[in-house]
Amino acid sequence: MEVSKKNKLNKIVKEIETCQACNLCKNRIKSVVSRGNENAKIILIGEAPGKLENEIGKPFVGKSGQQLNDLLSKVGFNPEQDIYFCNVVKCRPVRNNKDRKPNKQEIEACVKYLNAQIEIVKPEIIILCGNTAKKIFKINKPLKMVHGSCIDYKGIKLIPVYHPRASIIDEVKFNDLKKVKKLRG
Ligand code: URA
Repeated sequence: MEVSKKNKLNKIVKEIETCQACNLCKNRIKSVVSRGNENAKIILIGEAPGKLENEIGKPFVGKSGQQLNDLLSKVGFNPEQDIYFCNVVKCRPVRNNKDRKPNKQEIEACVKYLNAQIEIVKPEIIILCGNTAKKIFKINKPLKMVHGSCIDYKGIKLIPVYHPRASIIDEVKFNDLKKVKKLRG
């Protein structure tokens, strides 16, 4: 019998709950693996959990998440149904009680989980939300050059977009997500 996507993903969740591959585990209240639909054709990859995500255990549930959900809904997506949300790292990077970017070592320690999620979900489209997600796929050109473009990766369409907290007008963020919607139909 084929093991379901849910079972495979639950196995990863269990692994991450006790992961000690980097120092981020010391601050972990909850690991943050995903929200949304594992059968969706679109994965959206953010950077890392923030304060609220660490408390609740789901990605994009804070201010950035609200902004992102609003934009996705405006372009016509049903976010929970149409998208599988996750991050490059699964535990909150923090300095002096504030969110910070994950460092190279933390990303390297965690990227195997992201790769496993992609392998299991098998998306047609991956939205790379912000610089950290973009760099995982070795897209080195700056976001201002590649946002909203479609890049092939092993038959998957990668679309880099600005992170919701980037200081860029909403119209640009909206137009990029609109392109994703057009691709998906
Ligand atoms: N929350 C997340 O889960 N990821 C981000 O990149 C930002 C906020």
